[in-house]
Amino acid sequence: MASEKIPDWATDAVGAILNSVNLKDPFTFHHCCRVGRASRKLAKVLGMNDFEQSVLEYSGLLHDVGKVVTPESILFKPGRLTDDEMTIMKDHAAHSAKIVEALAKDSVFFRFTLPGIRYHHERFDGNGYPFQLKGERIPYAARVIAVVDTVDAMTNTRPYRQALTMDAVIAELKRCSGTQFDSNIVRAYLDALPQFENQEDPVAGEIIVSRILESAA
Ligand SMILES: [Fe+2]
Repeated sequence: MASEKIPDWATDAVGAILNSVNLKDPFTFHHCCRVGRASRKLAKVLGMNDFEQSVLEYSGLLHDVGKVVTPESILFKPGRLTDDEMTIMKDHAAHSAKIVEALAKDSVFFRFTLPGIRYHHERFDGNGYPFQLKGERIPYAARVIAVVDTVDAMTNTRPYRQALTMDAVIAELKRCSGTQFDSNIVRAYLDALPQFENQEDPVAGEIIVSRILESAA
C-alpha cells in the first residue's frame, strides 16, 4: 500500500457522515466508532504502518454508514428478519461503499478505505456477502474488519440478543477460525487481547466521535 497523505478534510467529512448515522441510529454510530478504534489496534498488532492503521481505522468508522439507507422497519425490527428483509439489510455494505466513493474520487486515502468497507461481510469460506469471495481473494482490510466487527456485535446487547461474555466470544472466534475468519488474523487478535483492554492515546476516530458527542450534548 503506497503511503499517501490523509486529507486535512478527512475528519470533517467523516464526522459529517457519522453525524447523520447518529441522528438515525445511535447504536450503529457507536458501533462504527468502536470498530474504527479496534480496527486500528488490530492493524497495529498485525504490523501495519501508521498510514495503513489509519486506513483500517477509517474503514472501520465507515463500514456500516450505509445503514442510513436501510428502512427503519428493518433496521430496528426487534425480531428475526424475513429473507426479503435480510436481502435489503445486506445492501448496507454496498451503500456504505457508495457513500465513501464520493470522498474517494479526489482522495487516494479514501480509495484505500473502500475494500475494507465493501467486503466486510465476506467470509473466509466463501459463504459471506455480497460477492461470496473466498480466502485471500477477500481484501486483507476486510478480513481484519470482519473479526473486529463480529467481536463488537457479540459483546453488545441488542433487543434480540444478550451480549456474550468475553470467554464465549473467544470460544466463538476459535470455532469460526478458518471458516468465517482468516485464522491468522484470529490468532493475532487472541494473542493481543490483553493489550486491547489498555487505554491508549486518542486516535483520529475518537477525536471525531468526541466532537460529535459534544455537539449533540
Ligand atoms: Fe455491516
